[in-house]
Amino acid sequence: MASSEGSKSAKRLNKPELFHEAAFINGKFITQATSGGTFAVTDPATEEVIGHVPDQGVKETQEAIQHAYKAYQSWSKTTGRQRHDIMKKFYDLLVANSDDIATIITLENGKPLADAKGEATYGASFIEWFAEEAVRDYGDIIPSPVAGQRNLVIKQGVGVCAAICPWNFPLAMITRKMGAALAAGCSVVVKAPAETPFTCLALVHLAQEAGIPDGLINIVTTDKHMKDVGKELCENKTVKKITFTGSTGVGKLLMSQASSTLKKCSFELGGNAPFIVFDDADIDAAVAGAIACKFRSSGQTCVCANRLYVQSGVYAEFASRLAEKVDKFKVGNGFEEGTTHGPLIHARAMEKVEKHVEDAKKRGGQVIVGGKRIKGNFFEPTVITDVPNDIMIAQDETFGPVAALFKFETEEDVLKLANDTDVGLSGYFYSKDVGRIFRVAEALEVGMVGVNTGMLSQSCIPFGGIKESGFGREGSKYGLAEYTTVKLITLAI
Ligand code: SIN
Repeated sequence: MASSEGSKSAKRLNKPELFHEAAFINGKFITQATSGGTFAVTDPATEEVIGHVPDQGVKETQEAIQHAYKAYQSWSKTTGRQRHDIMKKFYDLLVANSDDIATIITLENGKPLADAKGEATYGASFIEWFAEEAVRDYGDIIPSPVAGQRNLVIKQGVGVCAAICPWNFPLAMITRKMGAALAAGCSVVVKAPAETPFTCLALVHLAQEAGIPDGLINIVTTDKHMKDVGKELCENKTVKKITFTGSTGVGKLLMSQASSTLKKCSFELGGNAPFIVFDDADIDAAVAGAIACKFRSSGQTCVCANRLYVQSGVYAEFASRLAEKVDKFKVGNGFEEGTTHGPLIHARAMEKVEKHVEDAKKRGGQVIVGGKRIKGNFFEPTVITDVPNDIMIAQDETFGPVAALFKFETEEDVLKLANDTDVGLSGYFYSKDVGRIFRVAEALEVGMVGVNTGMLSQSCIPFGGIKESGFGREGSKYGLAEYTTVKLITLAI
Protein backbone atom coordinates (compact mmCIF):
# COMPACT_ATOMS: atom_id res chain seq x y z
CA MET A 1 0.00 0.00 0.00
CA ALA A 2 1.63 3.26 -1.15
CA SER A 3 1.85 6.16 1.31
CA SER A 4 0.34 9.49 0.30
CA GLU A 5 3.86 10.91 -0.15
CA GLY A 6 4.87 7.90 -2.25
CA SER A 7 1.79 8.26 -4.47
CA LYS A 8 2.66 11.91 -5.03
CA SER A 9 6.24 10.98 -5.99
CA ALA A 10 5.03 8.24 -8.34
CA LYS A 11 2.79 10.73 -10.15
CA ARG A 12 5.87 12.68 -11.26
CA LEU A 13 6.88 9.70 -13.44
CA ASN A 14 5.78 8.74 -16.94
CA LYS A 15 5.57 5.22 -15.59
CA PRO A 16 4.40 5.57 -11.95
CA GLU A 17 4.77 1.82 -11.32
CA LEU A 18 8.57 2.33 -11.24
CA PHE A 19 8.25 3.95 -7.82
CA HIS A 20 8.24 1.17 -5.23
CA GLU A 21 7.93 1.72 -1.49
CA ALA A 22 9.35 -1.73 -0.84
CA ALA A 23 12.38 -3.96 -0.62
CA PHE A 24 12.91 -6.60 -3.34
CA ILE A 25 13.62 -10.22 -2.45
CA ASN A 26 13.31 -13.26 -4.69
CA GLY A 27 11.52 -11.33 -7.41
CA LYS A 28 8.90 -9.85 -5.06
CA PHE A 29 8.46 -6.29 -3.85
CA ILE A 30 8.01 -6.54 -0.08
CA THR A 31 6.40 -3.66 1.72
CA GLN A 32 6.80 -4.87 5.31
CA ALA A 33 9.84 -5.58 7.44
CA THR A 34 9.73 -8.38 10.04
CA SER A 35 9.83 -5.66 12.69
CA GLY A 36 6.82 -4.07 11.00
CA GLY A 37 8.70 -0.81 10.71
CA THR A 38 9.37 1.45 7.76
CA PHE A 39 11.50 4.55 7.43
CA ALA A 40 10.90 7.80 5.60
CA VAL A 41 13.08 9.04 2.75
CA THR A 42 13.30 12.79 2.22
CA ASP A 43 14.06 15.10 -0.68
CA PRO A 44 17.26 16.93 0.36
CA ALA A 45 16.10 20.09 -1.47
CA THR A 46 12.73 20.50 0.24
CA GLU A 47 13.34 18.22 3.26
CA GLU A 48 9.87 16.79 2.59
CA VAL A 49 9.13 13.08 2.80
CA ILE A 50 8.97 11.44 -0.65
CA GLY A 51 8.10 7.90 0.43
CA HIS A 52 8.78 5.06 2.88
CA VAL A 53 10.54 1.72 2.64
CA PRO A 54 10.73 -1.24 5.06
CA ASP A 55 13.40 -1.07 7.73
CA GLN A 56 14.70 -4.59 7.23
CA GLY A 57 17.13 -6.47 9.40
CA VAL A 58 19.21 -9.62 9.64
CA LYS A 59 16.31 -12.04 9.03
CA GLU A 60 15.42 -10.54 5.64
CA THR A 61 19.11 -10.29 4.75
CA GLN A 62 19.54 -14.01 5.40
CA GLU A 63 16.49 -14.78 3.28
CA ALA A 64 17.83 -12.63 0.46
CA ILE A 65 21.17 -14.45 0.63
CA GLN A 66 19.47 -17.86 0.45
CA HIS A 67 17.43 -16.84 -2.60
CA ALA A 68 20.51 -15.34 -4.20
CA TYR A 69 22.35 -18.63 -3.67
CA LYS A 70 19.57 -20.61 -5.32
CA ALA A 71 19.45 -18.24 -8.29
CA TYR A 72 23.23 -18.38 -8.62
CA GLN A 73 23.06 -22.17 -9.05
CA SER A 74 21.28 -21.82 -12.38
CA TRP A 75 22.62 -18.43 -13.54
CA SER A 76 26.22 -19.65 -13.21
CA LYS A 77 25.41 -22.42 -15.69
CA THR A 78 24.18 -20.03 -18.40
CA THR A 79 26.48 -19.11 -21.27
CA GLY A 80 28.02 -15.67 -21.60
CA ARG A 81 25.81 -15.13 -24.65
CA GLN A 82 22.63 -15.89 -22.68
CA ARG A 83 23.69 -13.48 -19.94
CA HIS A 84 24.55 -10.88 -22.56
CA ASP A 85 21.13 -11.11 -24.17
CA ILE A 86 19.20 -10.55 -20.93
CA MET A 87 21.55 -7.79 -19.82
CA LYS A 88 21.24 -6.06 -23.19
CA LYS A 89 17.45 -6.06 -22.78
CA PHE A 90 17.93 -4.65 -19.28
CA TYR A 91 20.17 -1.90 -20.71
CA ASP A 92 17.60 -1.04 -23.41
CA LEU A 93 14.90 -0.68 -20.74
CA LEU A 94 17.14 1.55 -18.65
CA VAL A 95 17.67 3.80 -21.67
CA ALA A 96 13.97 3.80 -22.55
CA ASN A 97 13.08 4.81 -18.98
CA SER A 98 15.98 7.17 -18.38
CA ASP A 99 13.75 10.24 -17.88
CA ASP A 100 11.95 8.54 -15.02
CA ILE A 101 15.18 7.25 -13.54
CA ALA A 102 16.58 10.79 -13.66
CA THR A 103 13.45 12.17 -11.97
CA ILE A 104 13.82 9.70 -9.11
CA ILE A 105 17.53 10.51 -8.76
CA THR A 106 16.81 14.25 -8.48
CA LEU A 107 13.96 13.61 -6.07
CA GLU A 108 15.98 11.57 -3.60
CA ASN A 109 19.54 12.83 -4.16
CA GLY A 110 18.90 16.47 -5.10
CA LYS A 111 21.29 16.75 -8.05
CA PRO A 112 20.07 18.93 -10.95
CA LEU A 113 17.91 17.11 -13.46
CA ALA A 114 20.48 17.54 -16.25
CA ASP A 115 23.12 15.85 -14.05
CA ALA A 116 20.64 13.14 -13.09
CA LYS A 117 20.05 12.46 -16.80
CA GLY A 118 23.81 12.23 -17.20
CA GLU A 119 23.88 9.70 -14.37
CA ALA A 120 21.03 7.71 -15.94
CA THR A 121 23.19 7.34 -19.07
CA TYR A 122 26.39 6.67 -17.10
CA GLY A 123 24.63 4.11 -14.87
CA ALA A 124 23.08 2.26 -17.81
CA SER A 125 26.46 2.14 -19.57
CA PHE A 126 27.79 -0.28 -16.94
CA ILE A 127 25.06 -2.79 -17.80
CA GLU A 128 25.84 -2.43 -21.51
CA TRP A 129 29.60 -2.63 -21.01
CA PHE A 130 29.45 -5.74 -18.85
CA ALA A 131 26.87 -7.38 -21.13
CA GLU A 132 29.47 -7.07 -23.88
CA GLU A 133 32.23 -8.39 -21.61
CA ALA A 134 30.14 -11.44 -20.61
CA VAL A 135 30.94 -13.09 -23.93
CA ARG A 136 34.66 -12.25 -23.85
CA ASP A 137 35.85 -13.46 -20.48
CA TYR A 138 38.54 -15.70 -21.95
CA GLY A 139 40.66 -18.18 -20.09
CA ASP A 140 44.18 -19.41 -20.94
CA ILE A 141 46.04 -22.48 -22.03
CA ILE A 142 49.43 -22.72 -20.36
CA PRO A 143 52.07 -24.97 -21.94
CA SER A 144 52.96 -27.72 -19.46
CA PRO A 145 56.52 -28.89 -18.72
CA VAL A 146 55.07 -32.40 -18.27
CA ALA A 147 54.75 -34.42 -21.48
CA GLY A 148 51.15 -35.24 -22.39
CA GLN A 149 49.64 -32.72 -19.99
CA ARG A 150 47.61 -29.62 -20.82
CA ASN A 151 46.95 -26.76 -18.37
CA LEU A 152 43.65 -25.02 -18.90
CA VAL A 153 42.64 -21.91 -16.99
CA ILE A 154 38.95 -21.05 -16.82
CA LYS A 155 37.09 -18.20 -15.12
CA GLN A 156 34.06 -18.81 -12.93
CA GLY A 157 31.71 -16.45 -11.12
CA VAL A 158 32.63 -16.18 -7.47
CA GLY A 159 29.06 -16.83 -6.20
CA VAL A 160 26.70 -14.69 -4.13
CA CYS A 161 27.97 -11.10 -4.00
CA ALA A 162 26.95 -8.48 -1.45
CA ALA A 163 27.03 -4.85 -2.55
CA ILE A 164 26.90 -1.99 -0.08
CA CYS A 165 26.20 1.15 -2.07
CA PRO A 166 26.35 4.91 -1.48
CA TRP A 167 23.78 7.68 -2.06
CA ASN A 168 25.88 10.03 -4.22
CA PHE A 169 25.20 8.12 -7.47
CA PRO A 170 21.98 6.24 -6.67
CA LEU A 171 22.07 4.39 -10.00
CA ALA A 172 25.65 4.24 -11.25
CA MET A 173 27.27 2.97 -8.05
CA ILE A 174 24.88 0.01 -8.10
CA THR A 175 25.05 -0.84 -11.80
CA ARG A 176 28.86 -0.81 -11.83
CA LYS A 177 28.78 -3.57 -9.21
CA MET A 178 25.66 -5.39 -10.39
CA GLY A 179 26.68 -5.33 -14.06
CA ALA A 180 29.99 -7.02 -13.36
CA ALA A 181 28.40 -9.57 -11.03
CA LEU A 182 25.68 -10.59 -13.50
CA ALA A 183 28.12 -10.82 -16.41
CA ALA A 184 30.42 -13.08 -14.38
CA GLY A 185 27.53 -15.45 -13.53
CA CYS A 186 27.02 -14.26 -9.96
CA SER A 187 23.93 -13.21 -8.01
CA VAL A 188 23.67 -10.10 -5.86
CA VAL A 189 22.27 -8.85 -2.57
CA VAL A 190 22.35 -5.06 -2.52
CA LYS A 191 22.07 -3.05 0.66
CA ALA A 192 20.36 0.03 -0.72
CA PRO A 193 21.51 3.41 0.55
CA ALA A 194 19.00 4.60 3.17
CA GLU A 195 19.02 8.10 1.64
CA THR A 196 18.31 6.94 -1.94
CA PRO A 197 16.57 3.54 -2.16
CA PHE A 198 13.99 4.42 -4.84
CA THR A 199 16.35 4.56 -7.83
CA CYS A 200 17.60 1.13 -6.89
CA LEU A 201 14.05 -0.20 -6.72
CA ALA A 202 13.16 1.25 -10.13
CA LEU A 203 16.31 -0.43 -11.42
CA VAL A 204 15.20 -3.88 -10.27
CA HIS A 205 11.71 -3.31 -11.62
CA LEU A 206 13.32 -2.93 -15.05
CA ALA A 207 15.65 -5.88 -14.43
CA GLN A 208 12.61 -8.04 -13.80
CA GLU A 209 10.90 -6.72 -16.93
CA ALA A 210 14.05 -7.67 -18.87
CA GLY A 211 13.78 -11.26 -17.68
CA ILE A 212 16.40 -11.35 -14.90
CA PRO A 213 15.39 -14.47 -12.92
CA ASP A 214 13.87 -14.23 -9.45
CA GLY A 215 16.43 -14.17 -6.66
CA LEU A 216 19.33 -13.11 -8.87
CA ILE A 217 19.15 -9.50 -7.67
CA ASN A 218 17.82 -8.69 -4.21
CA ILE A 219 17.49 -5.29 -2.56
CA VAL A 220 17.51 -4.99 1.22
CA THR A 221 16.28 -1.62 2.52
CA THR A 222 17.41 -0.67 5.99
CA ASP A 223 18.13 2.29 8.18
CA LYS A 224 18.10 1.51 11.93
CA HIS A 225 19.48 -1.99 11.34
CA MET A 226 22.11 -0.90 8.82
CA LYS A 227 25.08 -2.02 10.92
CA ASP A 228 23.60 -5.47 11.59
CA VAL A 229 22.75 -5.95 7.93
CA GLY A 230 26.29 -4.95 6.91
CA LYS A 231 27.75 -7.37 9.46
CA GLU A 232 25.53 -10.23 8.24
CA LEU A 233 26.55 -9.61 4.63
CA CYS A 234 30.20 -9.64 5.65
CA GLU A 235 30.04 -12.69 7.91
CA ASN A 236 27.50 -14.95 6.20
CA LYS A 237 29.32 -17.97 4.77
CA THR A 238 27.14 -18.18 1.67
CA VAL A 239 28.27 -14.73 0.53
CA LYS A 240 31.55 -15.05 -1.34
CA LYS A 241 32.28 -11.44 -2.17
CA ILE A 242 31.69 -8.06 -0.63
CA THR A 243 31.91 -4.84 -2.61
CA PHE A 244 31.59 -1.47 -0.91
CA THR A 245 31.75 2.17 -1.91
CA GLY A 246 31.91 4.61 0.98
CA SER A 247 34.14 5.96 3.70
CA THR A 248 37.54 4.57 4.68
CA GLY A 249 36.35 4.15 8.28
CA VAL A 250 33.42 1.93 7.32
CA GLY A 251 35.61 0.08 4.78
CA LYS A 252 38.01 -0.90 7.57
CA LEU A 253 35.15 -2.20 9.72
CA LEU A 254 33.65 -4.24 6.84
CA MET A 255 37.04 -5.68 5.95
CA SER A 256 37.60 -6.86 9.50
CA GLN A 257 34.14 -8.48 9.52
CA ALA A 258 34.71 -10.08 6.11
CA SER A 259 38.00 -11.56 7.29
CA SER A 260 36.05 -14.12 9.37
CA THR A 261 35.11 -15.94 6.15
CA LEU A 262 37.98 -14.67 3.97
CA LYS A 263 35.67 -13.19 1.36
CA LYS A 264 36.90 -11.64 -1.81
CA CYS A 265 36.63 -7.87 -1.24
CA SER A 266 36.72 -4.75 -3.37
CA PHE A 267 36.50 -1.42 -1.66
CA GLU A 268 36.26 2.02 -3.23
CA LEU A 269 36.82 4.33 -0.30
CA GLY A 270 37.41 7.99 0.43
CA GLY A 271 39.68 10.22 -1.63
CA ASN A 272 41.44 13.53 -1.06
CA ALA A 273 42.23 14.32 -4.66
CA PRO A 274 44.98 16.77 -5.54
CA PHE A 275 44.27 18.99 -8.57
CA ILE A 276 47.48 20.66 -9.75
CA VAL A 277 47.76 23.59 -12.13
CA PHE A 278 51.32 24.17 -13.37
CA ASP A 279 52.54 27.51 -14.78
CA ASP A 280 52.60 26.03 -18.29
CA ALA A 281 48.94 24.91 -18.20
CA ASP A 282 46.17 26.05 -20.48
CA ILE A 283 44.36 28.14 -17.86
CA ASP A 284 40.97 28.08 -19.59
CA ALA A 285 41.08 24.29 -19.70
CA ALA A 286 42.26 24.14 -16.07
CA VAL A 287 39.39 26.35 -14.89
CA ALA A 288 36.86 24.25 -16.83
CA GLY A 289 38.41 21.06 -15.42
CA ALA A 290 38.35 22.41 -11.86
CA ILE A 291 34.67 23.26 -12.20
CA ALA A 292 33.80 19.83 -13.54
CA CYS A 293 35.96 18.04 -11.02
CA LYS A 294 35.46 20.09 -7.84
CA PHE A 295 31.82 21.08 -8.19
CA ARG A 296 30.31 17.96 -9.82
CA SER A 297 27.33 16.83 -7.68
CA SER A 298 28.05 19.87 -5.47
CA GLY A 299 31.39 18.34 -4.54
CA GLN A 300 29.89 15.05 -3.36
CA THR A 301 31.93 12.47 -5.28
CA CYS A 302 34.92 10.46 -4.11
CA VAL A 303 36.90 11.68 -7.11
CA CYS A 304 36.15 15.39 -6.65
CA ALA A 305 39.23 17.61 -6.44
CA ASN A 306 39.77 18.35 -2.76
CA ARG A 307 43.09 20.21 -2.73
CA LEU A 308 43.69 22.62 -5.61
CA TYR A 309 47.42 23.34 -5.89
CA VAL A 310 48.21 26.25 -8.21
CA GLN A 311 51.76 27.29 -9.17
CA SER A 312 52.68 30.83 -8.10
CA GLY A 313 53.06 32.22 -11.66
CA VAL A 314 49.38 31.57 -12.50
CA TYR A 315 47.84 31.57 -9.02
CA ALA A 316 46.18 35.00 -9.16
CA GLU A 317 44.89 34.55 -12.70
CA PHE A 318 43.53 31.05 -12.03
CA ALA A 319 41.85 32.17 -8.79
CA SER A 320 40.08 35.13 -10.35
CA ARG A 321 38.94 33.19 -13.42
CA LEU A 322 37.65 30.31 -11.31
CA ALA A 323 35.86 32.72 -8.94
CA GLU A 324 34.22 34.52 -11.85
CA LYS A 325 32.71 31.25 -13.12
CA VAL A 326 31.70 29.90 -9.70
CA ASP A 327 29.93 33.16 -8.92
CA LYS A 328 27.60 32.48 -11.86
CA PHE A 329 26.42 29.09 -10.59
CA LYS A 330 22.71 28.89 -9.87
CA VAL A 331 22.09 26.91 -6.70
CA GLY A 332 18.57 25.59 -6.22
CA ASN A 333 16.09 22.75 -6.42
CA GLY A 334 17.29 20.29 -9.06
CA PHE A 335 13.91 20.38 -10.80
CA GLU A 336 14.05 24.15 -11.38
CA GLU A 337 15.02 25.27 -14.85
CA GLY A 338 18.55 26.69 -14.90
CA THR A 339 19.73 25.14 -11.62
CA THR A 340 23.40 24.23 -12.00
CA HIS A 341 24.03 22.97 -8.46
CA GLY A 342 21.71 21.26 -5.99
CA PRO A 343 21.69 20.77 -2.23
CA LEU A 344 23.96 18.63 -0.09
CA ILE A 345 22.47 15.32 0.99
CA HIS A 346 21.73 16.10 4.65
CA ALA A 347 22.45 18.20 7.71
CA ARG A 348 25.58 16.19 8.65
CA ALA A 349 27.12 16.98 5.27
CA MET A 350 26.36 20.68 5.76
CA GLU A 351 27.99 20.68 9.19
CA LYS A 352 31.20 19.21 7.83
CA VAL A 353 31.41 21.77 5.02
CA GLU A 354 30.79 24.63 7.43
CA LYS A 355 33.46 23.32 9.78
CA HIS A 356 36.00 23.13 6.94
CA VAL A 357 35.23 26.66 5.73
CA GLU A 358 35.41 28.11 9.25
CA ASP A 359 38.75 26.40 9.83
CA ALA A 360 40.16 27.75 6.53
CA LYS A 361 39.00 31.26 7.42
CA LYS A 362 40.53 31.10 10.90
CA ARG A 363 43.81 30.04 9.34
CA GLY A 364 43.99 33.12 7.09
CA GLY A 365 42.01 31.86 4.07
CA GLN A 366 40.32 34.57 1.99
CA VAL A 367 36.83 33.67 0.84
CA ILE A 368 36.54 35.24 -2.62
CA VAL A 369 33.18 33.64 -3.52
CA GLY A 370 30.48 32.07 -1.33
CA GLY A 371 31.47 30.83 2.10
CA LYS A 372 28.18 30.28 3.88
CA ARG A 373 24.98 28.27 4.23
CA ILE A 374 22.08 29.54 2.11
CA LYS A 375 19.26 27.64 3.83
CA GLY A 376 18.36 24.03 4.60
CA ASN A 377 20.86 21.78 2.83
CA PHE A 378 22.08 24.43 0.39
CA PHE A 379 25.62 25.81 0.69
CA GLU A 380 27.10 28.57 -1.45
CA PRO A 381 29.67 27.32 -3.97
CA THR A 382 32.86 28.65 -2.46
CA VAL A 383 36.40 29.58 -3.49
CA ILE A 384 39.00 30.25 -0.79
CA THR A 385 42.53 31.51 -1.51
CA ASP A 386 45.71 31.92 0.54
CA VAL A 387 45.19 28.82 2.64
CA PRO A 388 48.09 27.14 4.48
CA ASN A 389 48.91 23.52 3.68
CA ASP A 390 47.71 22.06 6.96
CA ILE A 391 44.09 23.22 7.10
CA MET A 392 41.36 20.63 7.70
CA ILE A 393 40.45 20.52 4.00
CA ALA A 394 43.95 19.28 3.19
CA GLN A 395 43.60 16.33 5.55
CA ASP A 396 40.04 15.16 5.02
CA GLU A 397 37.77 15.24 1.97
CA THR A 398 35.21 18.01 2.31
CA PHE A 399 32.52 16.33 0.16
CA GLY A 400 31.04 19.74 -0.57
CA PRO A 401 31.24 22.71 -2.95
CA VAL A 402 34.40 24.33 -1.57
CA ALA A 403 37.53 24.97 -3.66
CA ALA A 404 40.54 25.77 -1.48
CA LEU A 405 43.50 27.06 -3.53
CA PHE A 406 46.98 26.27 -2.19
CA LYS A 407 50.01 28.05 -3.73
CA PHE A 408 53.18 26.11 -4.64
CA GLU A 409 56.54 26.88 -6.23
CA THR A 410 58.10 23.73 -7.72
CA GLU A 411 57.11 20.36 -9.15
CA GLU A 412 59.05 18.64 -6.39
CA ASP A 413 57.22 20.60 -3.66
CA VAL A 414 53.78 19.92 -5.06
CA LEU A 415 54.39 16.20 -5.47
CA LYS A 416 55.39 15.99 -1.82
CA LEU A 417 52.22 17.82 -0.80
CA ALA A 418 49.97 15.86 -3.14
CA ASN A 419 51.25 12.52 -1.84
CA ASP A 420 51.22 13.54 1.82
CA THR A 421 47.95 11.77 2.63
CA ASP A 422 46.90 8.27 3.69
CA VAL A 423 44.46 7.94 0.77
CA GLY A 424 45.03 7.75 -2.98
CA LEU A 425 41.98 7.50 -5.21
CA SER A 426 42.34 10.07 -8.01
CA GLY A 427 44.61 12.99 -8.88
CA TYR A 428 44.58 15.59 -11.67
CA PHE A 429 47.04 18.00 -13.19
CA TYR A 430 47.30 20.49 -16.02
CA SER A 431 50.52 20.95 -18.00
CA LYS A 432 51.64 21.12 -21.63
CA ASP A 433 55.12 19.72 -20.97
CA VAL A 434 55.29 16.10 -22.20
CA GLY A 435 58.19 15.20 -19.93
CA ARG A 436 56.36 16.55 -16.91
CA ILE A 437 53.15 14.79 -17.91
CA PHE A 438 54.79 11.38 -17.63
CA ARG A 439 56.87 12.28 -14.54
CA VAL A 440 53.95 13.60 -12.55
CA ALA A 441 51.42 10.97 -13.69
CA GLU A 442 53.82 8.24 -12.59
CA ALA A 443 54.76 9.95 -9.31
CA LEU A 444 51.24 10.66 -8.02
CA GLU A 445 50.26 8.05 -5.43
CA VAL A 446 46.72 7.41 -6.67
CA GLY A 447 44.82 4.77 -8.62
CA MET A 448 43.62 7.17 -11.35
CA VAL A 449 45.18 10.25 -12.92
CA GLY A 450 43.48 12.85 -15.10
CA VAL A 451 45.94 14.85 -17.21
CA ASN A 452 44.47 18.05 -18.67
CA THR A 453 41.00 16.79 -17.77
CA GLY A 454 38.93 16.86 -14.61
CA MET A 455 36.68 13.93 -15.57
CA LEU A 456 37.74 10.28 -15.63
CA SER A 457 34.53 8.40 -15.10
CA GLN A 458 33.49 5.91 -17.80
CA SER A 459 32.35 2.30 -17.66
CA CYS A 460 35.38 1.07 -19.64
CA ILE A 461 38.08 2.29 -17.22
CA PRO A 462 39.48 0.58 -14.11
CA PHE A 463 38.05 2.81 -11.36
CA GLY A 464 39.63 2.47 -7.93
CA GLY A 465 42.32 3.56 -5.57
CA ILE A 466 45.44 2.67 -3.63
CA LYS A 467 46.54 3.26 -0.02
CA GLU A 468 43.53 3.77 2.28
CA SER A 469 41.29 4.52 -0.70
CA GLY A 470 40.89 0.76 -0.93
CA PHE A 471 41.60 -1.88 -3.54
CA GLY A 472 39.96 -3.64 -6.43
CA ARG A 473 38.74 -1.98 -9.61
CA GLU A 474 35.26 -1.28 -10.96
CA GLY A 475 34.36 -1.04 -14.64
CA SER A 476 36.54 -2.45 -17.46
CA LYS A 477 37.89 -5.99 -17.77
CA TYR A 478 39.64 -5.48 -14.41
CA GLY A 479 36.25 -4.83 -12.83
CA LEU A 480 34.91 -8.10 -14.20
CA ALA A 481 37.89 -10.00 -12.76
CA GLU A 482 36.83 -8.88 -9.26
CA TYR A 483 33.74 -11.12 -9.59
CA THR A 484 35.44 -14.23 -10.92
CA THR A 485 37.83 -16.83 -9.66
CA VAL A 486 40.48 -18.48 -11.79
CA LYS A 487 40.36 -22.27 -11.92
CA LEU A 488 43.12 -24.50 -13.21
CA ILE A 489 42.29 -27.77 -14.95
CA THR A 490 45.34 -29.93 -15.61
CA LEU A 491 44.55 -32.62 -18.11
CA ALA A 492 46.73 -35.66 -18.71
CA ILE A 493 46.09 -37.33 -22.06
C1 SIN B 1 32.25 8.03 -6.48
O1 SIN B 1 32.00 9.13 -6.04
O2 SIN B 1 32.53 7.11 -5.72
C2 SIN B 1 32.20 7.69 -7.94
C3 SIN B 1 32.14 8.80 -8.86
C4 SIN B 1 32.22 8.40 -10.30
O3 SIN B 1 31.99 7.24 -10.71
O4 SIN B 1 32.53 9.26 -11.09
